[in-house]
Amino acid sequence: MSVFDKNKSRRSFDRAAVHYDQNAQLQQMVATNLLRHLEGFAQGLAPHLILDLGCGTGQVAEAMQLRYPDADITALDFSKQMLVQTEQRLSKQGLRALSVCADAEQLPFKEAAFDLIVSSLMLQWANNLEKTLLDIQRSLSSEGILAFSSLSEGTLKEVKASWEAVDQSVHSSNFQSLDSFERIASAAGYSNISVISETIVINYSSVREMLLEMKGIGASNASNERFKGLTGKQRFEAFERAFESFRLTDGAFPCTWEVTYVFCAK
Ligand SMILES: C[S@@+](CC[C@H](N)C(=O)[O-])C[C@H]1O[C@@H](n2cnc3c(N)ncnc32)[C@H](O)[C@@H]1O
Repeated sequence: MSVFDKNKSRRSFDRAAVHYDQNAQLQQMVATNLLRHLEGFAQGLAPHLILDLGCGTGQVAEAMQLRYPDADITALDFSKQMLVQTEQRLSKQGLRALSVCADAEQLPFKEAAFDLIVSSLMLQWANNLEKTLLDIQRSLSSEGILAFSSLSEGTLKEVKASWEAVDQSVHSSNFQSLDSFERIASAAGYSNISVISETIVINYSSVREMLLEMKGIGASNASNERFKGLTGKQRFEAFERAFESFRLTDGAFPCTWEVTYVFCAK
């Protein structure tokens, strides 16, 4: 059974695309860290064919094109509006990538099509990570490398606990446990697997500001659905009251992201 409703999530990303960059402080931090760690993992790497999987507005595709100017970049996303933003970002700098509108869980590429596949904060949306990693592996050349960031258990723990204080029935975590990444990558046949975890806490001046930012990047499952399940002003106010228990001494509201970076070879 699907965990994510793909049509609904694609529509959210489509709607978010134009304002995504203004709301993507976490995504910008994580992409920067992913590419920095990749340098350490694959020193001397000189890929010719690179895929940015779940490219969003193209920050990884852009960085890859600047780092490897002779490489051909493919930018894949299932949101057409995100791809429009990617094209605009690249063309402003005289860069280009091949845009592919497709589901990352049904890759439309031939075997061994890429030397490097990079994916930042997209694979937590996969309904079947095991199968997706297997398909990605088929798309890698024999010396190919996969580098991705995702989210693990503990992500949004304050949001989750605060909603649970309001309504016991709504909550279940969609995030993998940290130790499952290595197991899944290994079962898919990857070698030389390296997993790095990082806790990022972003502080907000209000709970509304926090949820608006999530909505602003199109993360509908993390925010909108909870509003939908718990409709009504009173329930939202109860949620805000529950969140008070996490309030920091300086008055800020923290939001925790457990980020996992995975690097592996075919
Ligand atoms: C949180 S954004 C990250 C975007 C970009 N990688 C970045 O670092 O800014 C997730 C992106 O993955 C895309 N996405 C989510 N599920 C997808 C799927 N099954 N197939 C293709 N793209 C998907 C969304 O449209 C969105 O652009």
